[in-house]
Amino acid sequence: MKQGKQFFWGGATSAAQSEGSYLADGRQPSNFDYLPLDDRRLKAVYKNQTNSILHSTGEEIYPGRNGNDFYQRYESDIALLKELGANSFRFSISWPRIFPTGEEQEPNEAGLQFYEKVLTELEKQQMEPIVTLSHFEIPLHLVKKYNGWENRKVVDLFQRYAKTVMERFRGRIKYWIPFNEMNMVLHIPYIGGGILFEEGQDNLSTQYQAGHHQLLANALAIETGKQIDPENQFGAMLAAGKTYAYTCDPKDVFAALQQEKENLLFSDVQVFGEYPKFFPHFLKEKGLNLTIQPEDSAILKKNTVDFVSFSYYSSACTAAEENGIDRVATNGYTTLRNPYLPKGKSVWQDDPLGLRITLNQLQDRYHKPLFIVENGIGTQDEFIDGAVHDDYRIHYLQGHIKNMMLAVEEDGIDLMGYLMWGIIDLPSVSEGKISKRYGVIYVDQDDENNGSHQRYKKDSFAFYQKIISSNGAVVFE
Ligand code: BG6
Repeated sequence: MKQGKQFFWGGATSAAQSEGSYLADGRQPSNFDYLPLDDRRLKAVYKNQTNSILHSTGEEIYPGRNGNDFYQRYESDIALLKELGANSFRFSISWPRIFPTGEEQEPNEAGLQFYEKVLTELEKQQMEPIVTLSHFEIPLHLVKKYNGWENRKVVDLFQRYAKTVMERFRGRIKYWIPFNEMNMVLHIPYIGGGILFEEGQDNLSTQYQAGHHQLLANALAIETGKQIDPENQFGAMLAAGKTYAYTCDPKDVFAALQQEKENLLFSDVQVFGEYPKFFPHFLKEKGLNLTIQPEDSAILKKNTVDFVSFSYYSSACTAAEENGIDRVATNGYTTLRNPYLPKGKSVWQDDPLGLRITLNQLQDRYHKPLFIVENGIGTQDEFIDGAVHDDYRIHYLQGHIKNMMLAVEEDGIDLMGYLMWGIIDLPSVSEGKISKRYGVIYVDQDDENNGSHQRYKKDSFAFYQKIISSNGAVVFE
C-alpha cells in the first residue's frame, strides 16, 4: 500500500451477529432475533417465504440472540484486534438498543452507554470506528406494525434514531455507513428490510418500495449528519461482485449487463442522487408500482455519499438461457457455476482476481473513494488442542489482498481500506450457524450456543498480522 497514505486495515462485524444479550439493558428484539436455525430460515432467506417466521413453536434456536457474546467481551475483543495490528473496526449499532420499539420519543440511555464504552475502548487502542447504523436490523415492533421498510413512516423513525446517535457521538465517529448492503432488500427482504409477505402479495413492488424508503432515509441521515458535524463522511454499501457473462455470446453479455444494472441500482442513486435512466422502463416492463413523493427527488439529489463501501465474497455469472447449467449459492442468492473457478473450501466460489475486476468496475462507474468493508471465507474449521490450522484462509487472504494491492498500485484505485468480515467468528446470516466460520479469531461456541465463548488465535491470525504490519507487502513474498 502506498506509504504515507492512511489506509484502514481491520475487521468487521455486525451487532445482530455478535452482541448477544438481546434483552439486556432495555433492548427489545429485532427482526434478526427471530430468524430460527431451521428450514424456515433458508426459506425466508432465499425464497421470500417469510410469513411463517414469527410463529414460534417454542423449540427453535435463534442464533441472533446470542451472537458471539461481544456485548460482554467487547473490551478483550478490541484488545485482540489491537494485537492483530488493526487500526480500524467496523461494527454496527443495534437500533433496538437505542429505540427498543423504534417508536419511543426518547432514546434508551443504557443502550447509548454501551456504545460509548465501545468507543472509549477503540479510542484507547487508537482504532478508527467505522459504524453501520442498520446492519440487517430493525426493531421487531416496526416489522409487526408497519411491515418494516415497506412503510414510509419508518423513514421518520430511522431519522430520529440516526440523529440521536450522530449527535451523541459527534466527533467520536467520522465514518458512517447508514445501511449495510442495501441491494440485499431485493434478495433477502425480511433480513434486509424487515418485510413479511402475505400470500399473493406483490413481492417485488414491496421490495423496491422498501429500497426507496431506505434511500430516502440514507439521504436524510447524510443531510442531518453533515449539519451535526461537517467532518462526517458517509458511505454507500453494496453487496458487490462483478457479474460475468457465461459466454461471449452478445445475448449473454447483455443479460450480464442487465443484472449488473439491477444490482447497482441503489448505489447508483446514492452516488448520483437520482435513479438511472433505465429504471422507469424497467418498472413498467415488470409491472411494478412504486410510490415516489414529489419532494423525494430533491432529497436524493442533494445528499449523496462521500465514498462507496462494499462487500466482496465472489463474482457472479449469468446467461440469457440457462439450459441446465449448474447453479451455486453466493451471498444472498444463487448464480451460475463458473467453470473457470476452482472448487475451494467454501461453497461460495472464490475469485480473487474478481476483486480486482470489481474494484475497477466500481471506480470507473462512480469516481469515488472505495472501501472494502467485508471480505472473507466462511468454512468449517477444525479446532484441535486450542489451535486451528486454517491454511485455506491464509491462501484466501493472500490471493484477495494481492489483487487488491495490484488494483491500487497498477490500476490507480483510490482505496480507503480493507476490513475482513467476521474477524471474530460469529453466526452466519444465511445459515445461522457459527460453524460457518470467517474469523482469524476462533470462538469456542457451537451452533446451539454451547461452549465457553473463549477466543483463540487461528494460524491466519499471525498471517493477517504480518499483512498489516508490512502494509500488505507480505502477500508478494
Ligand atoms: C454479508 C453480510 O452479506 O455477508 C454479513 O453483510 C454476512 O452480515 C456476510 O455475515 C456473510 O454471509 P453469511 O450468510 O455467510 O453470513
